[in-house]
Amino acid sequence: MREQLNNIKLEAEKRLNQAGSLAELESIRLQYLGKKGELTAVLRGMGQLTPEERPQIGQLANEVRSFIEKILEAKTKSLQEKERLSRLEKEAIDVTIPGKRRFIGKKHPLSIVMDEIKEVFIGLGYEIAEGPEVELDYYNFEALNIPPGHPARDSQDTFFINDDFLLRSQTSPVQIRVMEKKKPPIKIICPGRVYRSDAVDATHSPIFYQVEGLVVDRGVTMGDLIGTLQLFARSLFGEDTRIRLRPHHFQFTEPSAEVDVSCWSCGGKGCRMCKDEGWIEILGAGMVHPNVLRICGIDPKEYSGFAFGLGVERTAMGKFNIDDMRLLYENDMRFLRQF
Ligand code: PHE
Repeated sequence: MREQLNNIKLEAEKRLNQAGSLAELESIRLQYLGKKGELTAVLRGMGQLTPEERPQIGQLANEVRSFIEKILEAKTKSLQEKERLSRLEKEAIDVTIPGKRRFIGKKHPLSIVMDEIKEVFIGLGYEIAEGPEVELDYYNFEALNIPPGHPARDSQDTFFINDDFLLRSQTSPVQIRVMEKKKPPIKIICPGRVYRSDAVDATHSPIFYQVEGLVVDRGVTMGDLIGTLQLFARSLFGEDTRIRLRPHHFQFTEPSAEVDVSCWSCGGKGCRMCKDEGWIEILGAGMVHPNVLRICGIDPKEYSGFAFGLGVERTAMGKFNIDDMRLLYENDMRFLRQF
């Protein structure tokens, strides 16, 4: 029996030392120490021993058991550690790999220009007004002194929804909406989107942006309009910029003018940008028509005002030297990233 126990001890030690996994350790444990294990079997046979032998063999058996248990414990620990290390190695992150650069978007050139325009006018004490893009015919035309059937309607190829509703073809209806709600003094601008049934080309788009301006107070004159536009043009295009007013006709202003700025590219000498004119048209303007004031409940004998409507695309194209309007709508990051 003594021999048997020694054999078990040696064999178990050898097998434990060769074991390569925790599962293997467990099966060795069962083989020797389990209920049906070899050591247990030996202990069961102790009944046949003489009373003198019994305690000696018992002690030896206990020694073998604790010997095996000790190795088992040490081996378990070292295998666990090994597995942990190999897992760490597998999950390791190489912190020296360069990171992915996250691309942050940029302000669209139209937004840049619109923000700049707002800045200038807010600095002059203007408020920002808003109006709906789906507009009533009444605000887009009728209240602006353009009655049904009037030929002036044809100059703006309007998207009609039905007889009463349309997509606003200009930001001028916001003038009416503001004057209906607020009594003078009024000083607002309204940046916004407008719609016209135009084919897309280098200078046209069915959706584009305008900034409307409206000032109504006692004693407002054409001189105020010109001074305001002059200051605006200089702020946006540089100190040397000049403006020029050409007589024009709008139903809702009288007198009316189209306003040019000296070419931002050549300064007025004439170049490809301004088609050798030296001037580039950017807005329509005029003194608010007495009929328009009257329709909004403002007495034209007491008050006067000026209004203007600025093309934002043109302004952006001028400011950034963009030669094709379509670039502004294609959302090609290679283009947009430049501004
Ligand atoms: N609404 C006009 C247009 O779109 C521009 C304009 C605005 C003219 C205000 C005069 C006064 O052409």
